[in-house]
Amino acid sequence: MKEPLTLGIAGLGTVGAGLLHLLETHAPHLAETLGRQIEVKGVSARTRGKSRGVALDNIKWFDDPVKLATAPGIDVFVELIGGDEGPARASVEAALNAKKHVVTANKALLARHGMELARLAEKNGVALNFEAAVAGAIPVIKTLRESLAANRVRRIYGILNGTCNFILTKMEQEHRSFEDVLKEAQAKGYAEADPTFDIGGFDTAHKLALLTSLAFGTKIPIDQIHVEGIQSITAADIEAADELDFRIKLLGVAIETESGIEARVNPSMVPKDSAIAEVSGVTNCVAIDSDFAGNLLLVGPGAGAKATASAVASDILDIARGDLIAPFMMPASKLKPYKRARLGQHQGAYYVRLSVLDKPGAMAAIAKRMGDREVSLESIVQRRPRAAAGGPEQRPGAGGPATVVLVTHETTEEAIRKALEAIENDGKVAARPQMIRIEQL
Ligand SMILES: NC(=O)c1ccc[n+]([C@@H]2O[C@H](COP(=O)([O-])OP(=O)(O)OC[C@H]3O[C@@H](n4cnc5c(N)ncnc54)[C@H](OP(=O)(O)O)[C@@H]3O)[C@@H](O)[C@H]2O)c1
Repeated sequence: MKEPLTLGIAGLGTVGAGLLHLLETHAPHLAETLGRQIEVKGVSARTRGKSRGVALDNIKWFDDPVKLATAPGIDVFVELIGGDEGPARASVEAALNAKKHVVTANKALLARHGMELARLAEKNGVALNFEAAVAGAIPVIKTLRESLAANRVRRIYGILNGTCNFILTKMEQEHRSFEDVLKEAQAKGYAEADPTFDIGGFDTAHKLALLTSLAFGTKIPIDQIHVEGIQSITAADIEAADELDFRIKLLGVAIETESGIEARVNPSMVPKDSAIAEVSGVTNCVAIDSDFAGNLLLVGPGAGAKATASAVASDILDIARGDLIAPFMMPASKLKPYKRARLGQHQGAYYVRLSVLDKPGAMAAIAKRMGDREVSLESIVQRRPRAAAGGPEQRPGAGGPATVVLVTHETTEEAIRKALEAIENDGKVAARPQMIRIEQL
């Protein structure tokens, strides 16, 4: 047996307690396969007396995670506190400076400070591993850093936020409103009391930033990602998508184009017969298109104590075996500066939903504005408003605004945006047009 690998774990919440549970459950198996024991020497959390469902006897307690990060006798500092500043950042920096390997699940910290932390890890000759930071149990960081390292990635995209996928799936399957399903997600613990970070697309953007750096060898400032959340998706969109043989998914997408990298988070229409459309509930997936390996789709649990602990443990095992890779595959100093593709140049088809006022010539004016920008339409459907429960069916055009759904042929984002702006300015619609990109899969 080799020397044991010693850990200091900061953060004993969902993931931290999950990791202790895993290490306890599989201790004999891990010792056998690695030829060395993994020993937890120190832990830190905010509240010492809290019951965590795991044995903490014989493990030294640290009130201050920075002290744990630099404690003698600790080989690996495991940061499971969360947040892009405060104790998480301070303790990770302290650990790297003290030449300790670091394992973290913290996408917010890495999306903001990943490059500086990677440089610090490289300078000190230690690992900075973060498999659990993207898509929970799905081994996407290792897939990019190791399995696909000999490829050029052309596109990477995925469902990276379980909360959003849960909400969109329930809206579709149970014909419920966004607000109603969000309340259920909060009650089940899938969504935070303040859900903005998830439903606004920011959590997906953090994960996409890490995937973009690894896939394309580039730095990417988090504020350079175009972000749209799912708050504006209504039951009418879900219903229209269903009739058009699409499903709506919140995707993080990064594509290498001739003019730069297009990195965006947005609700997308995906064909019902695509594999990604089948990914429902809190499940995550990541699709990678690369030149030699072709198209890969990885699907699995994106969060939760066990799934995330599994990913954290896999990073610890790499260190135990002595497998060290630069955090972003190549030295951080060699990563290219980010060149952002103009979203206006994005080419694709679009779904548009309009609330058209009952005015003479409204439809002709809409068609003209689309024609002015050379946007050609594949279909245009005036939808019957849903009958109120128990009430009579309504005829289209009876009174209030009519819902009109358009699907365009391939056009540019600039053209469709200009056409919709002109339609709004004409005063023929009662609300801002809804526009959703149809993803080419
Ligand atoms: N939950 C998931 O499914 C999941 C999935 C992927 C990635 N992650 C990432 O994993 C990390 C941890 O998430 P989590 O869900 O486990 O969070 P959590 O349940 O909220 O746990 C956070 C832990 O950090 C401790 N903590 C807070 N402030 C501290 C401080 N100043 N000093 C020491 N400890 C402190 C808390 O202590 P107390 O317990 O005493 O309050 C708690 O144990 C985050 O970066 C998150 O983004 C989570």
